[in-house]
Order: sequence, then C-alpha cells, then structure tokens
Amino acid sequence: MRGTRKYRHVIETPDPGKWELAGYEATLPISEKSNPITREIDKANPTLVVQLLKECDAEIFQEEDGALINYKRLYSESVLKTVIDIAKRVQEIIKEADDGLIVLSGCGSSGRLAMLLANSFNKLLKGLHRKPCYTYIISGGDRTLVTSQEGEEDNPLLGAAELEKVCAGKKKVIFIGISCGLAAPFVAGQLDFCMNNLDIFLPVLVGFNPVSMARNDCVEGWHSTFRQVAERMQKLQEIQKAIILNPAVGPEGISGSSRMKGGSATKILLETLFLAAHKADCNVEVTEKCLLEILRTYERAHKVTYSQSKKIASVVKQAATSLQKKGHLYLLGWRTLGIMGIMEAVGCIPQFGADYRDFRGFIAGGYNGMLNKEGDLTALGPEFAISHEDFIKNIVPTLSEMDTVLFMFTVDDELPDIEKLAGLVKEKTSNFQAISHATAGQCLPNSIKKLFPNIISITWPILFLEYEGNFIQIFQRELSTKWILNTVSTGAHVLKGKIYRNYMVDFKVSNTKLFQRAVSVVQRLTEQPQLRCIETLLQSIYAPEMLTDQIRSLPISKHVEAASVKEKVVPVAVVSLLRSCTVHEAKSRLDASPSIRAAIDASINAPGRKRGAESSEASGRNK
Ligand code: F6P
Repeated sequence: MRGTRKYRHVIETPDPGKWELAGYEATLPISEKSNPITREIDKANPTLVVQLLKECDAEIFQEEDGALINYKRLYSESVLKTVIDIAKRVQEIIKEADDGLIVLSGCGSSGRLAMLLANSFNKLLKGLHRKPCYTYIISGGDRTLVTSQEGEEDNPLLGAAELEKVCAGKKKVIFIGISCGLAAPFVAGQLDFCMNNLDIFLPVLVGFNPVSMARNDCVEGWHSTFRQVAERMQKLQEIQKAIILNPAVGPEGISGSSRMKGGSATKILLETLFLAAHKADCNVEVTEKCLLEILRTYERAHKVTYSQSKKIASVVKQAATSLQKKGHLYLLGWRTLGIMGIMEAVGCIPQFGADYRDFRGFIAGGYNGMLNKEGDLTALGPEFAISHEDFIKNIVPTLSEMDTVLFMFTVDDELPDIEKLAGLVKEKTSNFQAISHATAGQCLPNSIKKLFPNIISITWPILFLEYEGNFIQIFQRELSTKWILNTVSTGAHVLKGKIYRNYMVDFKVSNTKLFQRAVSVVQRLTEQPQLRCIETLLQSIYAPEMLTDQIRSLPISKHVEAASVKEKVVPVAVVSLLRSCTVHEAKSRLDASPSIRAAIDASINAPGRKRGAESSEASGRNK
C-alpha cells in the first residue's frame, strides 16, 4: 500500500519496500541491508541492471509511510525543518565570513563529496563577490581524493586533530560530518571534538541510518562508539547545540556500497541546503517551498537521466566486455564531471578489489581543474597522474581494442579539445562513448556527433532561476553523470562476476568496518555461526601461516593490516566454508573458476552440501 503522498512527485517513486518492515534483516542498519529490488542483480543482463538501479535510486525520493516502521525520509516534515534550521545557521556564517567557517568532512567517497561541495559553494560565493567560507577535510588528506586510502577512516583522534588545525583562529564554525552509514570513527572523533568546544562549533551529522542503527562497536584506543557520539548529539539537539540530518534512503543496490545512494543523497541534501541558504541570503526566507522547488530539480534529473536507459545499458555492456577481457575502463571528464569520473573509479578499488590500472578517471586541467587544497600531487606516483595530458602520455600508447573510454562533458566545454582527444583514442580503439550534457536550444556539433559511436546525449530544460540557477544546472549534470557511472561500474563488475546476489564479495578488507562487513557477508552466504566465520576469515587472511591463539587475540586493526595486502580474502573464506575445505583448496578453486560468482554458486550448489536456516546472528554490527 502506498503511503499518503504529500508532494507532487516528478518521478514515480516505488511502493515502500520489504526492507522497511520491522523484522527485515533486523540486526543490520539500513545502509548494510540487502535491497530486495536487487536481490538477483548478479543474474541480470545490462538492460535489467540499469532498470534495477534506477528503481533503487528512485527510493531516495520515496515518502515516509506511517503504516510501516515510519523511517524519516527526504520529504518528511522533520527532515525539511532540520534542513531549514541548518540553512539559517549557515547564513550567519556567510554574513560573518571573516570569523566563521563551514567545514565539510568525510571518509572515502564522502570526503570526495565534501571537497566537491565546498569548492562549488566557494565558487558560488566568489561569483556574488563574497568571501569563500567553505572548506573540506578528507581522511587521509588529498591523496584520498584520487586514490583509495581506507585505513585513516578508523582514527578518531586524527579526525579531531585535522579539524582543530583547519579551524585555528575561527570564532564560529559549522562542522558537517558526513558518514552515510553513521559509522566512520574519523568523523566521530571530529563530532566529539565539536561537542567539547560548543562555544565555537555547531556539530552537524549527515547520514542515512537512524541513530539507533549507528555503528556500535568499540573504536580501538578511543572512549566512545559512533552510536554513543550520535546519542550525545541527539541530546544536544534538544537545546539546538547539535543537529542530526539522517533521512532513510533505503538499502544500497549493492549492499553496503554507501558511495552509491548514500553519496547521491548527500549531494542532493547538502546542495539543497546550501542553495537555500544562499538564496535566503538575498533576503528571501528559507521555506519548505523553496526546498521542495530545489529537490524537485533532482527528481527531474533522475527522470531525465534514466530516460537514456537503453544507451546506458549499451555502455554497461561495453565496459563489462573490456573488464572481462582484462582490458581497462577509462573515464575522461571536463570540469567537475572529471571529478565525478575520478570519484567513481577510486570508489571501485575497495569495493570490487579492483586495481587502479583497471579503471581510472582523468580530468581536464589535472589538479588545477580539481581545485584541491594540497595542489599538484602527480609526483607522488603513477596513481596520482590524473590530467588529460597524463592520459595522452601514459595511456594512449597502450590503448587497445580491449579497452573502453568514456568521455563526459557539456556542450559548453572545450569542444576542439574533446574532438582532438577523441581522434587520438579512435586510432587505438573503437570502444569509446560519451555522456554529453546540453541545455534546451544548444546542440552538439555534427563533427563530434559523428565521431562517437554511442553518445548518451542529455538535454536539460532551461531553468528560469536567478544566479543560483546556473549552479542547479551544474549539480543536476554532476548527479546525472554520477548515476550513470554508478550504473556502468556496478553493471560491469556484476557482469564480470564480482557480485553474489547483491553482495560485494571481493572487496578489500582495509579497515575495521570492512572487516566487520566481511564477517557479515561470510555469515550470510554460508549460514555458519559467527565464530566459525571469523576463524575461517582469519585463516584466509593469514594463510599459509597457521592460526595461533596469539594471532586470534590480535586487535582487528592488525587483521586489517594483514588483509589489506591480500587478494580474494572474503571469497576464499566463503568457498572454504561452503566446501568444508582448506583455504588453500578454496583459493585453487577460485583461481580455476571463470569468476568469483561462479565459484561461490558452484560451492553453494555442490552435491551433498546441507543448507541451514539463515543464521539469526548474521551480522557483525549492532551487537
Ligand atoms: O570504508 C570504505 C567506505 O565504505 C567507502 O566506500 C565509503 O565511501 C567510505 O567508507 C565512507 O563511508 P561512510 O560515508 O558511511 O562513512
């Protein structure tokens, strides 16, 4: 049954899903649950992958349903009111920009989005001849913008120290900590620091789980869990000293992959908030109506983007073919679309155990185009080479028919450069496609149209809004590109057999959250007791060394250290448990199998294997 629709929607949002029912995977937070929509995504063809992810993304805009558990949603009154409250506080900072600062912070994709958002709104302020007052922090520093650095996410003290450094000398700071899963200790440390310095800081937590589902396991060497920090904030919220913004957007299409829907929802929510704050700065009151007007433009972006589903499916197919043939996938973007490409590629490294060489993003202008705080990082190593010049120098000579190149631009970008680069690529591979954005009335020159075999060509309606209207257009195009890239990369890895049902299985166990996710996935796929799963996971991590009690008693951080240099840690543990074989044999079976999915499927269906009831403790969280 559909809940009472309060707002006129642009897209048809799905009926509330089974995941909202009280007993559905009750031990898991929403961000880690498996989405019923994508339960069989591993068997889908490109067209179906696009359809399923489209439905998952539509859940972002779904309204709250009083008949079910009643999670707060994007359009819930309490959420819109919270956005207005934060927007008003943002306005105070904009007016006193000499003494004030707005800090956005996060880990992995959430940190990359923090950078993108801070830079966008500084640009907007500069255009209004006002002082920029946004900055960002990303765990691991700017290196994490372009490479995968998951370890620092576990360090709350480092988070707090970074924040203190960035805010030195400021009298009023709004700190916006983004953790989609309400999980990152790095962000918890920063929120805690703010709560200890309330004369200067207003802590704001942005994520997509209720506080009762925030991560509750001990943080090594620290005094609180994430949930305890969030609960303390909840109390302070009653006296307007802290704010939590956490609507539910539903489980991810690939369980736990918070960079997908979580990332999109972060972008939608915070851009709406800041746009409304800046609008009101021009003496227009921040109202629910104003928020709804902006939110609808994002819903429209969903509709416009997925109206290209057929062409998106064709890119998915092409990208999958390249990855299956051990070729590469390259994303070449102009302006912030280049950042969207880099974000996507880097996000896939921990999620699919991908090598940075397999899937890479490049941006016109390199670090000058990215506008990161630490400037040019190219000297740090080959992974840090991100400009189109780097692509021409390092990649073009090795390009072949096995590789796929995806161009991402708007009709306002440097079309002669695009044409030239496409010409170079064409000499090496016929597998190059494009995402091109235009506004109604604009059109792509024929010379470029003819060059590309497939163009996802999106034409956006003209927005009759004032100055900020330009930014809404940019944001729509970024989000649209993000949705397409999320779909392309997920689809390509699904077709490569990297996903089982809708679980990521071949991820890098590179921090404590990912260790716990590993335990949870092994349990869910093998239906074995938690202790046995941990034991086998450790065998997989430490093999060929024998497990000793000394190893077993090491803190999780040590297991993570050992696991992060290993491959196929989770698949080996899964196959070993399903086959009751040694991890050595499991590894051989995986190596001999055409894909990880095939190896797990064959093990699950192996003759004689007894299937148990789904384990009731199938979670490493919420203990
Ligand atoms: O630990 C890796 C990771 O899951 C990334 O994929 C993600 O972008 C990052 O953590 C941050 O997650 P969250 O926003 O939930 O803190």
